[in-house]
Amino acid sequence: MASLVNCFVALSIISLLALPSNAQLSATFYANTCPNLQTIVRNAMSQAVNGESRIGASILRLFFHDCFVNGCDASILLDDTASFTGEKNAAPNRNSARGFQVIDTIKTRVEAACNGTVSCADILALAARDGVVLLGGPSWTVPLGRRDARTASQSAANSQIPSPASSLSTLISMFSAKGLNARDMTALSGGHTIGQARCTTFRARIYNDTNIDRNFATNRRANCPASGGDANLAPLDIQTPIRFDNNYYGNLVAQRGLLHSDQELFNGGSQDALVRTYSSNNAAFSNDFAAAMVRMGNISPLTGRNGEIRRNCRMVN
Ligand code: HEM
Repeated sequence: MASLVNCFVALSIISLLALPSNAQLSATFYANTCPNLQTIVRNAMSQAVNGESRIGASILRLFFHDCFVNGCDASILLDDTASFTGEKNAAPNRNSARGFQVIDTIKTRVEAACNGTVSCADILALAARDGVVLLGGPSWTVPLGRRDARTASQSAANSQIPSPASSLSTLISMFSAKGLNARDMTALSGGHTIGQARCTTFRARIYNDTNIDRNFATNRRANCPASGGDANLAPLDIQTPIRFDNNYYGNLVAQRGLLHSDQELFNGGSQDALVRTYSSNNAAFSNDFAAAMVRMGNISPLTGRNGEIRRNCRMVN
C-alpha cells in the first residue's frame, strides 16, 4: 500500500512538472474549448468599427501598449483602484488609450459562450487583428494561449513605450529591447496609417521641426495652436485616415509625417530605403506588418499555469 501511495505521489509530481508553464502559443488553442471565439470577436469588432471607424485604430494601439509593457498579458486593461495602480494613467495612456468598452463587450459575449476559458490578452490580440482587417488591412493567424496578468506596472508603461519625440536610434533600441528588429519597427509604425493623434503629441513637430512640408505644417497649425488645444485631433495619415494602407509611408517620403518619431523613419537614416519600398509596394508592407504583429504578439506571454483567465478584463479575479 505504502509503495502504491509513493508511486501515486511520484506520478503526480511528474505530471505537474509536465504541465507546460511556458508553452508556445498556438493558433488552435481554443479549437475545442471555445470554437466560436473568433466569430464572436469578429462580429463585435465589426459592429464597433461600423459605429466608429477609429475604434479599429484605438484597439490596435491598445495591443501595442499591452505587449510593450511586460508582455501581452492584458495588463493595460486593469483599472486603477484605491489600492492598485495600473497602466491606464501612465503618460502614454492617460487621456489617450481608448477602446476599453469594446473589449468589455467582447469579453461579456465570450464569457457567455465559453465561461472562464479565454483570456483578455487573447481577446485583445484577436480584436487588434480584426480592427486592421475591417479597415482594409492584411489578415494573419493569431497564435493564442496567453493568460492574464495579476499585476501591472505604471512605471514600465512610462519607460518602455516610445515617446513621439523619440529619435530613430531610440526607436530602434526600444523595439530591440522587445526582440523586434529595425525592420519590424518600421513595418509596425505603419499602424499609423489609421487613427488620430492629439495636438500635444505633434505640436513640437509642426512648430519646430525643419524636415516638414510647409503646407502640411501650416494646415496642422490651424487646429493645433502654439499653446492650448492640447486635445485637438489630427489624422496620423493625412491621405486615408480610416483605411489601412501604405499611404503612411508616402506621407513620410513627402515629409508629411505627423509625429516627430514618424518622420525619423525617413530622415536620411537607415530606414529610408525600406520606407520608400513600403511607399510603393503595399504587398511588401502588408506582409511585413502581419509578420511583425505576430512577433509583437509573442512578447513574453504568460502561459500554462502562470497568470489567470480574468473574469472581468478590468480587474484581477
Ligand atoms: C514607433 C513608436 C511609436 C510611437 C512613438 C507612437 C506614438 C503614438 C502617439 C503619440 C499617438 C497619438 C496618441 C494620442 O494623441 O492620444 C499614437 C497613436 C496611434 N498609434 Fe502609435 N506609436 C508608435 C508605434 C505604434 C505601433 C507599433 C502601433 C501598432 C502597430 C501604433 C498604433 C497607433 C494607432 C493605431 C494610433 C491611433 C490610435 C487612435 O486613434 O485611438 N503605434 N501613437
